[in-house]
Amino acid sequence: MNEEIIEITEGSTKLFVPKGSMTEKVPPKEPAFFNPRASLSRDLSIIACSAFWKDYKFPKIFFDGLSGLGARGLRIANEISEVEKVIVNDVNPNALDIALRSAKINNLENFEISENETCRFLSSHSRMNERASIVDIDPFGSPSKYIDCAIRATMHSGMLALTATDLQVLHGLFNKAAKRRYYGTPVKTEFSNEIAIRLILGCVSFVAGRLDISFQPLFVDHDMHYYRTYMKILNTPEKEEKIGYIIFCRSCKDRYTEITRQDKCRKCGHETEIAGPLWIGKLFEKEFIQKMKNVKNDLIVNKKCDRIIERAEEEAELPATYYTLDEIASMIKSAPLKLNEAIERLRAQGYKASMTSLNPGGFRTDCEIDKITQIFQN
Ligand SMILES: C[S@@+](CC[C@H](N)C(=O)[O-])C[C@H]1O[C@@H](n2cnc3c(N)ncnc32)[C@H](O)[C@@H]1O
Ligand SMILES: [Zn+2]
Repeated sequence: MNEEIIEITEGSTKLFVPKGSMTEKVPPKEPAFFNPRASLSRDLSIIACSAFWKDYKFPKIFFDGLSGLGARGLRIANEISEVEKVIVNDVNPNALDIALRSAKINNLENFEISENETCRFLSSHSRMNERASIVDIDPFGSPSKYIDCAIRATMHSGMLALTATDLQVLHGLFNKAAKRRYYGTPVKTEFSNEIAIRLILGCVSFVAGRLDISFQPLFVDHDMHYYRTYMKILNTPEKEEKIGYIIFCRSCKDRYTEITRQDKCRKCGHETEIAGPLWIGKLFEKEFIQKMKNVKNDLIVNKKCDRIIERAEEEAELPATYYTLDEIASMIKSAPLKLNEAIERLRAQGYKASMTSLNPGGFRTDCEIDKITQIFQN
């Protein structure tokens, strides 16, 4: 390892990282991968883990299946006082050497490393009393090949967190790959990031179904280069049908979720574009987001987390799929409304409406497209 290693601080944790990862545009994979731009995702993950373990009765054990130099696991071990054990796993021994150096400088006693292929590591922890209450999977690209072994290593009523960075596939550039990895295909829309998240959750649902497991999404987030989903794993099969389709009409911009495909637009009769099969259940659990809001104040995290969490709380119980101010403005050929005004107008007409954490110019509502355009035009 000739590369210069420097010390940085993220949250309140000291991390050793290759100097190149802080200076180069694309962080190098050698001697170990570290992306400083993913710090917001790690901040949210510290908040989510802390919220999940609040009042949690079972062992507070965290596994990172693809840890790189261990940034996430080190922060969890150091910043969440209740944690009992963290094991970070990677195939890269250099990354794990660096992780151990960081553990030492933070005086961590609850931190272990494992050098193994992810599924071998997780499978060696699939027995009932050897599982973790939180399992994190943060690969290069798609998490789909790790979902099965990750679920098996998660305690019942534990939490599984997955990252996906294969954005081109999830955004509709390569539909064959999307079908292969996620079982469903996206449609290019203004709300493509929500479709991407629902495809990931759809894939989890198919895999979990085989194992007689179900799950409940607790929180999802998206930034420039990644998607993340946090799910509570339940040891009962799913009772309700939560797999379906997003029906989208490019002509009149109508959109909604359905269990079955609908080929003609219910509003204008135009041919629809259909995303799926994918997850059509909730993306957020309101009580969990409220816990995130509470624990956040005791942690050192980016201010941006506040707005993300506040918006997630607002939108938690609103319908699937959002609209953007820009697309409605271009339909009615006028300047976009301010977000607050748009929401107030919808609420004044008796509809539910909220901002969305997934898009700064987006809003959710139970009002349908023809009514939205009328309300915005007046
Ligand atoms: C995106 S990085 C992880 C970044 C890390 N979670 C963080 O927040 O800094 C992905 C890591 O997966 C490791 N990796 C890739 N394939 C693997 C496999 N099959 N088993 C174990 N580790 C693997 C790579 O060495 C790399 O360190
Ligand atoms: Zn239509």
